[in-house]
Amino acid sequence: MKYKAYLVEENDGVYKGSVKEIDMPTIEPGNVIIKVHYSSLNYKDALAASGVKGVASSYPFVPGIDVAGEILESSSDLFHVGDKVIATGYKIGMKVFGGFGELVQIPAEWVIPLPENLSYKHAMSYGTAGLTAGACIKKMIDADIPKDMPIIVSGSTGGVGSVAVNLLSKLNYEVHAITGKPEEKNMLMDMGASEIIYRDDFMSEPVKALDKGIYAGGIDTVGGDILAKIISMISNHGAVSCCGNVGGTKFTSSVFPFILRGVSLIGIDSAESILEFKKNIWNLFANEWSLNLDTYTRVLPLNYIDDEISRILEGKQVGRVVIKHEV
Ligand SMILES: NC(=O)c1ccc[n+]([C@@H]2O[C@H](COP(=O)([O-])OP(=O)(O)OC[C@H]3O[C@@H](n4cnc5c(N)ncnc54)[C@H](OP(=O)(O)O)[C@@H]3O)[C@@H](O)[C@H]2O)c1
Repeated sequence: MKYKAYLVEENDGVYKGSVKEIDMPTIEPGNVIIKVHYSSLNYKDALAASGVKGVASSYPFVPGIDVAGEILESSSDLFHVGDKVIATGYKIGMKVFGGFGELVQIPAEWVIPLPENLSYKHAMSYGTAGLTAGACIKKMIDADIPKDMPIIVSGSTGGVGSVAVNLLSKLNYEVHAITGKPEEKNMLMDMGASEIIYRDDFMSEPVKALDKGIYAGGIDTVGGDILAKIISMISNHGAVSCCGNVGGTKFTSSVFPFILRGVSLIGIDSAESILEFKKNIWNLFANEWSLNLDTYTRVLPLNYIDDEISRILEGKQVGRVVIKHEV
């Protein structure tokens, strides 16, 4: 069975993607083949597409950690032909060819029935970025953070950050958004941020061991010194969900926020979360957490992906990019 995919190939250390026709291997026991209607672009996909070590296991490779579509073939009792499904993370787009192809073959255990109130496109407007924002917020709520102080979000115009700002605002939290894009101030206000903090201003003073505790929580997509600064500004019994590293992998903190304020640092790994946790977040997005992300989502065909990958790698991405396959 032939299908179209954005195939990344390596030539003398240079990684380049192009839309090609490739073959789907015969279905293996326990697997399903999904006809992908929509996928979405995440930071990890941009890394896989550019050959960054530790993301895609080998090349040639089809990235795309997000999938929404219908079951075309099933060799599992869990799903039948025609079922509408979504799948995100695990080894999709890392070890197994992903959603930048019109077909994917993955274990049925990675697949979730599409919740009733979600369309394929709506689901992919959240995608892994949204699932991650949802996981960050769910775990902060479960940590019982104070409700009467603001929550700070870094990388706020990006995929994870923008969904986090939208969702926190919907849940009636006061949201302060850190961004490197002053020109997106109005967009962040429209999403529900009440204060916009420019990244350079936020980082203009050195990180202290313990700063003024003015936030109940933080969602950090950036890592490095920004994470350290956010931790130092969390109030008593607040929490920070740490999910990203676009700004760096290392940070230096002190023990004081943890031993003097009882601050929790919550690690988020949405890709490898157990399926039940993912289902729970998807069901929330299909119901009480439902967000209309249309204004912040661009829907593009596969052949526009190169420009979007460059944009995300340069830190210039705003909102979400959904990939629409021809079906
Ligand atoms: N742990 C998980 O489960 C999980 C899941 C999904 C994503 N992630 C990670 O989360 C991070 C964000 O992903 P995403 O999909 O939201 O990416 P994205 O759409 O590219 O957004 C990242 C945003 O971070 C800000 N930024 C970029 N470069 C920066 C730098 N050098 N210093 C400070 N801020 C910078 C920019 O926003 P502003 O200009 O508004 O600041 C940018 O739009 C990535 O590291 C990704 O790998 C983790």
